[in-house]
Amino acid sequence: MLYAERIFSKCSRCGVCNEIVACPGGEVGRVEKCVGCEACYLACPNEAIVMKEKPKRRDVKIKVDDESFSVPEKITVRKALELLGYRIGRFPGEGDLLVLCEVGGCYSCAVKVDDEVKPSCITSVIDGMRIETRLPENYIPRRLVHGWMGHPVGGVGTPWWLKGKHYVETAVFACGCNLRCPQCQNWTTTYNGKEYAYTPKEAAIIMTEARRRYGVDRMAISGGECTLNRQWLIQYIKELRMLNTDANARFHVDTNATILTKDYIDELVEVGVTDIGPDLKGLYVETFIRITGTKDRELAVKYHSTAWNAFKHLIDNYKDRVFIGVGIPYNKSLISIEEISKIGDEIYKIDPEVQVCVLDYRPEFRRRDISRPSFKEMVEVWKTLKNIGLKTVICQTIYGHIGPEKPTPNYKSLTDSIVSK
Ligand code: FES
Repeated sequence: MLYAERIFSKCSRCGVCNEIVACPGGEVGRVEKCVGCEACYLACPNEAIVMKEKPKRRDVKIKVDDESFSVPEKITVRKALELLGYRIGRFPGEGDLLVLCEVGGCYSCAVKVDDEVKPSCITSVIDGMRIETRLPENYIPRRLVHGWMGHPVGGVGTPWWLKGKHYVETAVFACGCNLRCPQCQNWTTTYNGKEYAYTPKEAAIIMTEARRRYGVDRMAISGGECTLNRQWLIQYIKELRMLNTDANARFHVDTNATILTKDYIDELVEVGVTDIGPDLKGLYVETFIRITGTKDRELAVKYHSTAWNAFKHLIDNYKDRVFIGVGIPYNKSLISIEEISKIGDEIYKIDPEVQVCVLDYRPEFRRRDISRPSFKEMVEVWKTLKNIGLKTVICQTIYGHIGPEKPTPNYKSLTDSIVSK
């Protein structure tokens, strides 16, 4: 049994843990209330939370699928199920209970607790609780999403020729991610367990209204990681399509692609996704582990190969039907130019014409020691990929996007970037 303890010498009192962590104990750092879910441990940018063993406490009685059990008090439902022999899955289709984000964002681990469906990873067991591991037939999926906004740049799967217009799309961000990138570029979404859990229809209605407000045709979902709750995402795209039946509407998914199996891609395209941006976080598994913080090597191998296979499957089967943009991260502290060049070779073999978008990773989250790549470095990355023969290479830089024809910034992106500083 674990509990979280704050290391006060490392804590900067930023308050982020209490703002974004859905602490089942009610307040991060209250040892006597802690149920050891680890959400604050994962979310703290200062690594000021440590998990410690707590002595076994008294037992509480619970019912799981109508069978009675005793489990230690002050643990999560997920932990209770694990103690009772349920196998925890980290990849869809594996294990009895799928646990991906571990912070209450994705609802992959949802079970019925008394009369409500709740994420088991951040729900505490209490005496007399009734748990049903199978969700009700009529259950409408939920997950946490937030931040609907007009976006001036778009994401990896946004066609380059649109970038730099006033707004190119509206975007919404799904909370929770299966990766633990130490330099996570959107970590207040990734570890956010406090937003409202929307049904697909509720989220689609808000997105449709945002489309109207920002006067755009493209509707994007990113994260965190938006693919974690498959049932939710498929239904969300369906609802969005029902609300946006005009020919101009575009349905865009940006993803780390680590659980995007071929059948999942087929289903996404089937329900109407028109634009997709898979991210490839390294050619070598070691690089993938460094960038994503995935500690389990076997899982890292699976995630890494799933992402590359997803990209290939998309190109082989949907190139003419779906706009595909592939993302690569660059920061010299995380990946070498030589590896970027080898990634370029692999992409060239799959499709020399695909849009390649290189993201300049900034110092964020726990890697504030790294420097944002300079403009010159990003031009070097651009030239390296262009010299391979890739037709459409764009790079994010401190002055906005460069490429695809020349390594010069798009004028509109440049002015936006200067204005926002
Ligand atoms: S794994 Fe529990 S909500 Fe994501």
